[in-house]
Amino acid sequence: MNKLNTHVVIIGAGPSGLLLGQLLGRQGIDTIILERVSGDYVLGRIRAGILEQGTVDMLREAGVSQRMEAEGEVHHGVDIANNGVVTHIDLHALTGGKTVMCYGQVEVTRDLMAARAEASWPTYYEVSDVQPQAVTSQQPTVTFSYKGARYQISCDYIAGCDGYHGVSRQTIPAEKRTEHERIYPFGWLGLLSDTPPVSAELIYCKHARGFALASRRSATRSRYYLQVPTDDKVENWSDDAFWAELKRRIPPAAAARLVTGKSIEKSIAPLRSFVCEPMQYGRLFLVGDAAHIVPPTGAKGLNLAVADVTILYRILCRVYQEGDTACALQYSEIALRRVWNTERFSWWMSNMLHDYGATEVSGMAGHTFGRFMTSELDYYLSSEAGRTLIAEQYVGLPFETIKGSESK
Ligand code: APR
Ligand code: PHB
Repeated sequence: MNKLNTHVVIIGAGPSGLLLGQLLGRQGIDTIILERVSGDYVLGRIRAGILEQGTVDMLREAGVSQRMEAEGEVHHGVDIANNGVVTHIDLHALTGGKTVMCYGQVEVTRDLMAARAEASWPTYYEVSDVQPQAVTSQQPTVTFSYKGARYQISCDYIAGCDGYHGVSRQTIPAEKRTEHERIYPFGWLGLLSDTPPVSAELIYCKHARGFALASRRSATRSRYYLQVPTDDKVENWSDDAFWAELKRRIPPAAAARLVTGKSIEKSIAPLRSFVCEPMQYGRLFLVGDAAHIVPPTGAKGLNLAVADVTILYRILCRVYQEGDTACALQYSEIALRRVWNTERFSWWMSNMLHDYGATEVSGMAGHTFGRFMTSELDYYLSSEAGRTLIAEQYVGLPFETIKGSESK
């Protein structure tokens, strides 16, 4: 058994694990990252690209914002269309100057990977059989296999950044975990194309035929989504069929501008809300998708992961720089406050913008639920107070201050 040691073992080299490693490394807190697949495989995942103000700030603090600043697009607003009638949400005006950054998650991940490689901090890709051990002791370890050899890392803490299907959440005994889940009765069919986007910013479209989203990756690359039934198959959708349906659901003026073209990626993703409580067990912390999943309607997946990373990073700085080990006990409580607020916003936006058809929801017929939700959307869009509530959640609420354990 090959023996290693470090301060913090990070399981997973997605955005959560890489950002946490980058932030801690810049503070002299050592990490080892263990990743199940190759770096190229991680970079091959298509993901959203709307970054909250807080996420942008943390990428700057991590020293990886150069390309984002150069290539990302700052969005001052977002459109919400209700059966073709567009309401503009002026994020900048409604939030005292906050904006969002449109910059693909894969680019964030690429920048973080490059920074870690530049710093030569230890990262093991294509590992297997990762097992956190003795997580409730003062000396947890993590064992894993790599290139045919077995390894054991002694550490102070383990950050489970290994996503929904990872090993970390399962390390918390079932009787110690409470899992909350809402599976939505529809999915999103996404299409990526090298065509100019229909809008300079995003358009979320509620429509009787189903939800649609017009997003973008750059001035020459578009990302579109259509609500589809959960049992739909991507093979059922030719490019022409996709474009024809998108034109029916987006506002007429956008439909008139739509430039169609060959898809370079097309896939269907399910929608769910999921939360695991607590988000820590002994010296194991759950971070990002390992602890929670949000429906993509609020563009919160990456941003909520960054919020967890920020909380854990600030706590571990207190532990290592001020000896405040008790501070680590606050992580789950603080993280879950933001998790549930973000889950609620994403669930609320999903309920308001999608068509439930005949599916029963909240003990009523889908079309009845739909009437309530259409009224809710109309109400919030019709007042500055309503648009402000949407705007402040969309740009992201401020991160909670981490107080030392002595001030609790
Ligand atoms: N051992 C090592 N690595 C693992 C294991 C394991 N047992 N299980 C999973 N992993 C790796 C996965 O291969 C993946 O690269 O952990 C990483 C988890 O990354 P993500 O799933 O991207 O989760 P996270 O880093 O929290 O980022 C959340 O990614 O999925 C999107 O919508 C989500 O935008 C959000 C963001
Ligand atoms: C995307 O660009 O992929 C995207 C943007 C906003 C969302 C979801 C997805 O809410």
